[in-house]
Amino acid sequence: MSALLIKNIKQLVQVREEGRFPVRGKDMAKLPSIGNAWILIKHGIIEDFGSMDDCPEEPKAVIDATGKLVLPTWCDSHTHLVFADTREEEFVGRIKGLSYEQIAAAGGGILNSAKKLAGKSEDELIASATERLNEIMHLGTGAVEIKSGYGLSVEGELKMLRVIKHLKENHPLTIKATFLGAHAIPAEYKQNREEYIRLIIEEILPVIAEEQLADYIDVFCETNYYTPAETSRILEAGIKHGLKPKIHVNQFTSIGGIQVGIQHNAISVDHLEVMTEQDKSDLANSNIIPTVLPSCSFFLGIPYAPARELIEANLPLCLASDYNPGSTPSGNVPFVLSLACLKMKLLPEEAINAVTINGAFAMELQHELGSITKGKKANLIITKPINSINNIPYRFGSDLIEDVLIEGYSRKKN
Ligand code: NIG
Ligand code: FE
Repeated sequence: MSALLIKNIKQLVQVREEGRFPVRGKDMAKLPSIGNAWILIKHGIIEDFGSMDDCPEEPKAVIDATGKLVLPTWCDSHTHLVFADTREEEFVGRIKGLSYEQIAAAGGGILNSAKKLAGKSEDELIASATERLNEIMHLGTGAVEIKSGYGLSVEGELKMLRVIKHLKENHPLTIKATFLGAHAIPAEYKQNREEYIRLIIEEILPVIAEEQLADYIDVFCETNYYTPAETSRILEAGIKHGLKPKIHVNQFTSIGGIQVGIQHNAISVDHLEVMTEQDKSDLANSNIIPTVLPSCSFFLGIPYAPARELIEANLPLCLASDYNPGSTPSGNVPFVLSLACLKMKLLPEEAINAVTINGAFAMELQHELGSITKGKKANLIITKPINSINNIPYRFGSDLIEDVLIEGYSRKKN
């Protein structure tokens, strides 16, 4: 099918000229849209759109969207969705009162996932990750970042990144890959962490560069994981190999991760549940995208990041799922939107900007995705008949998405 017209759209949401910067501060409350609209897709790209008053001649393929809204798909810029198996035993442990940190200290957590991943082949990991990608695609995600970090060895990390590369080349979603070898200190290097850091820098990064296995470099900068000084060294090595930083900071403690991100020109600093006043003002004076992950706070019962304050500090807030087996076993972005509104007090417009256009910027996909803009990919959500975009976060847990088009092709109905 080369041309598709969607007509009688109740509201075409997130209509923008291509911009050079993410949406920040007060502008996040504005979600430009056109009522009673049409959109024309050609060869998977948005060709044109407008009001029904000047609807073009109908090509063969037409969707009548009477009563329905059309939005750009979600851009989920932070996930760990390649993993070997779920960790519901830890979930039950937490119900009984253990904390995420206590579970990790007892050999659970990230090390548990690394143990499980060591026994899986690339094909097995591709099969399970493909199911997760299909699941999030049906929930409206059209682009996703995926991290390594459950390999924690030369072979394991490269295996994960080759799996992600395969997904990039074979799955309809647009995918970015992040190398997170520094996700935890592997058990066998507890007494010799320096040697594992050497492996990351000297053994793994050169292969990543050679085989073009990653776009970004990430480090879990956190108490009991990687110090700010170690984070700096690893980021510098990644940058030398052409990888830009996107890092995990301030999830449980504030130890200087934000400042390391600023020094190394990170694209985004992610998590931010625990921030000092100094952290907030340093971030406010930077050009970095703060990415917050409310499903992780919900699932672990930790504080929510101060998203409202970040917007009020004129920052371009981004929302993502953090889909992973330990802290967030869900890639459900509509639920992220509900939590952002209910727990972080974001307006629906702010939340949708955070996970569409700003999510695209957080993966450097702003030229292809994140808004209804001529020339961008036709990755679109068609809702069921609903009153307004407010319904999406308001009716939490309901599936209000009728169809998802990826480069113009229906991916939910068929
Ligand atoms: O973003 N915080 C570090 N990494 C993940 C959790 C990983 C896991 O528990 O498996 C996160 O929450
Ligand atoms: Fe994460």
